[in-house]
Amino acid sequence: MCGIVGYIGSRSAAQICLEGLHRLEYRGYDSAGIAVVRDGELDVRKVVGKLSNMDASLRETALPGTLGIGHTRWATHGKPSVENSHPHVSTNGRIAVVHNGIIENYGELREQLIGEGFVFKSQTDTEVMAHLVEKYYAGDLRVAVVRAVQDLQGAFAFGVICADNPDQLVAVRRFSPLVVGLGEGENYIASDMGAIRQETDRVYVIDDDEVALITREGVELTDLEGNPLEREVFVIPWPADAAEKGPHKKFMHKEIHEQPEAMRACLAGRLSDPDKPLQLDGLNMTEAEIKGLKKVVFTACGTAYHAGLVGRFLMEYLAKIPAECDLAAELRARNPVVLDNTLCVPISQSGETADTLVALRDMKGKGARCVSVLNVVDSSIARESDGAVYIQAGPEIGVASTKAYSLQVMTMTLMALHFAEVRGTADPALLRELKAALLKMPEYAAELLKREDDVIEVAKQYYQLKDAFYLARGVNLPSAMEGALKLKEISYIHAEGYSAGEMKHGPIALVCPELFTVAIAVHGDVYEKMIGNIQEIKARSGPVIGVADDGDDVIGGQADAMIWVPPVPELVSPLTTAIPLQLLAYHMADQRGEDIDQPRNLAKTVTVE
Ligand code: M6R
Repeated sequence: MCGIVGYIGSRSAAQICLEGLHRLEYRGYDSAGIAVVRDGELDVRKVVGKLSNMDASLRETALPGTLGIGHTRWATHGKPSVENSHPHVSTNGRIAVVHNGIIENYGELREQLIGEGFVFKSQTDTEVMAHLVEKYYAGDLRVAVVRAVQDLQGAFAFGVICADNPDQLVAVRRFSPLVVGLGEGENYIASDMGAIRQETDRVYVIDDDEVALITREGVELTDLEGNPLEREVFVIPWPADAAEKGPHKKFMHKEIHEQPEAMRACLAGRLSDPDKPLQLDGLNMTEAEIKGLKKVVFTACGTAYHAGLVGRFLMEYLAKIPAECDLAAELRARNPVVLDNTLCVPISQSGETADTLVALRDMKGKGARCVSVLNVVDSSIARESDGAVYIQAGPEIGVASTKAYSLQVMTMTLMALHFAEVRGTADPALLRELKAALLKMPEYAAELLKREDDVIEVAKQYYQLKDAFYLARGVNLPSAMEGALKLKEISYIHAEGYSAGEMKHGPIALVCPELFTVAIAVHGDVYEKMIGNIQEIKARSGPVIGVADDGDDVIGGQADAMIWVPPVPELVSPLTTAIPLQLLAYHMADQRGEDIDQPRNLAKTVTVE
């Protein structure tokens, strides 16, 4: 999705914007642009394609100026092109805007503005804002921006500069993320904290319909009526180098390898002894409220949805609460029935996913209590939730979510165990066994990472095939779906995650020597059935990669290649099966020479519906 950076100070605005845009690259983009104010004029530079084109352009001809805004564009309205790249400039050439979001009524505004003599140069929805600000500008940039956004419907975070106001940067948001970074004699704006973490660890998190007037000396926050707002400074909790690749070739690889430590952080303060009840901070629910729950609805997108499916399984299995899990983009459409004492659990790494935020608002509106499971602190979803449980993964930059998935699953498990303990719905011996296994999970994760070379060998055997099935049953069905998503999003191999039980109802028609099947067959309730399903694939000459417990000669004897995992209780095995499947996707994409951290067409944080 689009990324915004802005700077006002005494250093080169273009360089600071460019560095910030590089840190937003993970969000996905197809073009980029920077505008600065210099000597009472705007100077704008735009490039299509990678930011390296902007690096080269600025090396060739500098863009001096100490006030500027930058943007990476992920095309929605109009194809990637120089004309459609931001910043967009007003008809009189004095005002430049960058935008993240979608302006829904841009069509009618465009017609109206053309009728009033404004000249459009792009097909974007954003350009209306540049002309609207010009229309309302009478010397006060903040006033003009506020008046302009009152005409808009949709989602936006804007950064706006004007050649006639060389000492002001104005930013405003509704529904799209925006932070203001605080420096000494210099200040910043950005779509997320990571873009400016190298510059400062102090930010204001801007809320809907709030405006920031930013100068070199300070920041004034107001609402759209101009009333001043007080805001606490948020201190970014991770170090400046947390978002660096270090010795790893790709962020995805680094993040897969961070999982043992991240798991320790997720467990810390919550579970330390299998004989003691676990604590789950952030839930913001009393024991009576947990006991009174009648329904739990998990909702999320993509990888987080798969974690929600694990949550649904465990919530019913252990805490005996009827549970559902919906794709956030579909939840509102099906108009779900919300009973008294319904808990909605939105799950999101970024906390900014538009579909998940909309689902949260819809469920709150229907009377559900909403406790979110999040990674990024102080996100839009966090601020609108009744409680927020943090997965403690640290920054995740790779577009393909890895450590966040594992920790979302771990948090789902902690939540189900906690509810089961409070409600007294599960055998204490089982709860003890699961808690003990969770406590050992960082060691299992470290062990699985030591086996990376074995996964590389499997990847080398199959990376040239074009199609894959990922099969599992029960609590590992989401593991199969997640394994398939990981593979398709970074390697572009067509992969589908299915219940192995569904194969005979259609998909088995596709089985052939050119389609490989990853079969998750760890010991547990569904193990015997998985053996039968593997045989059905083999009987149709389909190559099988088995994922099974160490020493399992039965699966080992049937599969063409093996990925071994340490045996754990089946209910926590989604945590052990996830890691080698992440590595498999990574190494297949690596063998194919794909751009793993910036897969085509994808954005890390999807801030539009
Ligand atoms: O930030 P979120 O967890 O809300 O993001 C949800 C999905 O967009 C995300 O998980 C996406 O599916 C990833 N590309 C998966 O690797």
